[in-house]
This record gives sequence, structure tokens and C-alpha cells, in this order.
Amino acid sequence: MKAVILVGGEGTRLRPLTCNVPKAMVPILNRPFLEYMAGYLKEHGVEDIILATGSLPDPIQSYFGDGTKFGIRMTYLVEESPLGTAGAVKNAEAFLDESFFVFNGDVLTEIDLTAMMRRHQEIGPKVSIALTPVDNPTIYGVVETDAEGKVKRFMEKPSRDEVTSNLINAGIYILEPEVLEHVPVATPFMFEHHLFPRLLEMGEVILSYPSDAYWIDTGTPEKYLEAHHDLLWGWGDRGIRLGRGSKIHSTARIEGPALIGEECVIAEDAQVKGPTVLGPRCEVAKGAVVEGSVLWHDSKVGEGAILRNCIAGSYSCVQHGSPVLDGCVLGDNVTVGRGNRLAKGARVWPESHPKPNITSF
Ligand code: GDD
Ligand code: MG
Repeated sequence: MKAVILVGGEGTRLRPLTCNVPKAMVPILNRPFLEYMAGYLKEHGVEDIILATGSLPDPIQSYFGDGTKFGIRMTYLVEESPLGTAGAVKNAEAFLDESFFVFNGDVLTEIDLTAMMRRHQEIGPKVSIALTPVDNPTIYGVVETDAEGKVKRFMEKPSRDEVTSNLINAGIYILEPEVLEHVPVATPFMFEHHLFPRLLEMGEVILSYPSDAYWIDTGTPEKYLEAHHDLLWGWGDRGIRLGRGSKIHSTARIEGPALIGEECVIAEDAQVKGPTVLGPRCEVAKGAVVEGSVLWHDSKVGEGAILRNCIAGSYSCVQHGSPVLDGCVLGDNVTVGRGNRLAKGARVWPESHPKPNITSF
């Protein structure tokens, strides 16, 4: 089975984390997001993946190559300018000759793809679309269905008073190749705004596949951190998984669930409290505290410093006397210097990608 994964967006809402890394390569439990996704697809018999990428395919291609190492086949299609979600799949038309999956490239989920495909084949619509319930539908695409589960209407990012359902487009579709006849070539075109509403107007059946399985769009720092907390708590054992070559001082305290990458150093009296992920070669210095956070590789929390419920990009550093708390996001190479105080939820951009009007700092 084939799947097209849409990874051509700019990852704007995840910035500054996506200043140097495409959204699809952002680490989830120390592995690129896409690797996670490829494993999930493989479990459901999808081994042929077409990546519809934007302008930054190199890091993806150099990691996955042709996919052999990961037991899949990976094909790359680069768009010179963004073609939109449906335009990007149109671009892959030559590779598609039977029912295939399409995925938004930022969704972490356990939706049962095998059952979704079975239902698609039994009922035989042109399109099936997975739906998931959420608390705040206004930031997604709301989908209204009838009693038989046929889609009646799409409302992309509706305002609060327009919301008629808490079921939203989960970013997973099964398409019959012939629907691509209705997508123009080399022209920006969206499933959500253009193709799906058009198919409904034409009287085609779009079948919903509602699911209560785990689902999260990791496309904002808040959701990215939440996904980590969910995955780590999901271990169920408050375990501590320690990478090769990591050194933990005998007086340091680690409370799981925690994933500690290779060659990390956790110094005397330091504390690491789960759910936390340390990327490879991170250092938690003497007396420092890291809690509920995700650190990318080569980051450092200095002596006596505190990092709580935050995300720190690679080569970042928090110095003593500057607690970094509650949803702050440090880009790569950012150092929070002694005595600097970050506002709750502040995002700090790397110098190489300066952003005007930083909340504080
Ligand atoms: N190749 C390509 N080209 N990919 C694109 C393009 C493009 O022009 N534009 C967006 N994408 C990819 C993004 O990289 C991402 O993986 C996916 O399409 C969805 O884009 P997002 O920017 O993350 O959209 P969203 O989260 O606001 O909304 C979408 O996902 C929701 C579920 O998470 C919509 O499909 C909503 O209807 C849906 O509810
Ligand atoms: Mg998204």
C-alpha cells in the first residue's frame, strides 16, 4: 500500500524549533517525527511512502535515503513553490494507481488504518476521511456528517459560533486515484478548502471514519510537549530509559518516566523529573533541576538552574539564576544568561534567525 505524506508546510507555529529543522524531522522521543510515522505506517502494511516536501528536503533525504534501512520505500517529490495539500498529491499522481493514504505530516496517532481501509473497501466511496474528537475545534477543520457517516460539510478553522461538531478532520485520508482528476496541475489547491467541498457539490460520497484512538497534531510547541508527556506517561511504568555512555552521579535524582539519550551527564545533586526527555549529549549540571521538559541534543542546564515544562532546542543553555518555566521554548544555540527572566511561554529565537519583538529577554 502507498501513502503520500504532506511535509511541505513551513512549520511556522512550531518556530523557533523549526528554524533549522523541518517539522517532519523534529524529534519525538529522540527520533525524527517521520521515523515514528514510518513505523506506524509499516505496522498497517504501508511500505511505500511518497514524501511531498517543500523547500527543505535535504535533512529528510539524508536521514532516510531510499528508506531501505527502515524497511520502507521512500520517494521524494519537491515543490518549487507550495502546491497546497491537494496540489502536492496531484504532483504524485504518476505514482498512484489504487486506493492510497494521505497523511498530514504532523499527526501522531494510533488510529487503526487497517480497519479504516477495510471499511473504505467494503463501502467503496471515492474518499474516506478519519475524524477525531477535540476540545477546541476552531483551530482545525470541522467535519459534519449524517447518520450514516457520510460527510455533509467542511468548515476549516471555524469561529466559535460556527462550530457544530467536535469531530474534526484528523489529517488522514484514503483516496481513489480518480479524484485527482478534479485537482489542477501545478496550481495551489487544498483538500480542505477546494477538493473536498467540490466533491460534495458534485454529489460524490466522502465517508467519515470517526475514531477515539489517540490523536494529536504536534504542530505547536504546546502540543509538541503534550505529545511527549502523553508518550512518556504511556509507558505506564515510570521507567528510566538510559542511553549508552550516559553518566549519572550517585547523588543525582531521576524520577521517571524519563528518556535520557546517549552520552548525557547528570551531575551531583542534579534532578531530572519525568516526564522528561534529554537528547544525546545533554548535561544537567550540579544542583540543576529539569522537569517535564524536552531537551534536544547537546543542550545544557547549568549549575543550579531550573528548566520546567519547557522545550530547549539543540546546543541551548540555561544558566544559573534564570529559571526557564511554563511553556518557554528556546531555539537552537540559545543561551539564557544569568539573571535573565523569561515570561511564561516566551519563545527565544536563535541569533541566526532573529525575530523582532521577542516577548521578553
Ligand atoms: N507538500 C505540501 N505542500 N505540504 C503541505 C503544504 C503544501 O503546500 N501545505 C501544508 N502542507 C502539509 C504540512 O506540512 C502539514 O504536514 C500538513 O500539510 C497540514 O498542514 P498544517 O499547516 O499542519 O495544517 P493544520 O494543522 O492547520 O490543519 C490541517 O490539519 C488539521 C489536523 O491536524 C487541516 O487538514 C485541518 O482540516 C485538520 O483538522
Ligand atoms: Mg497541523
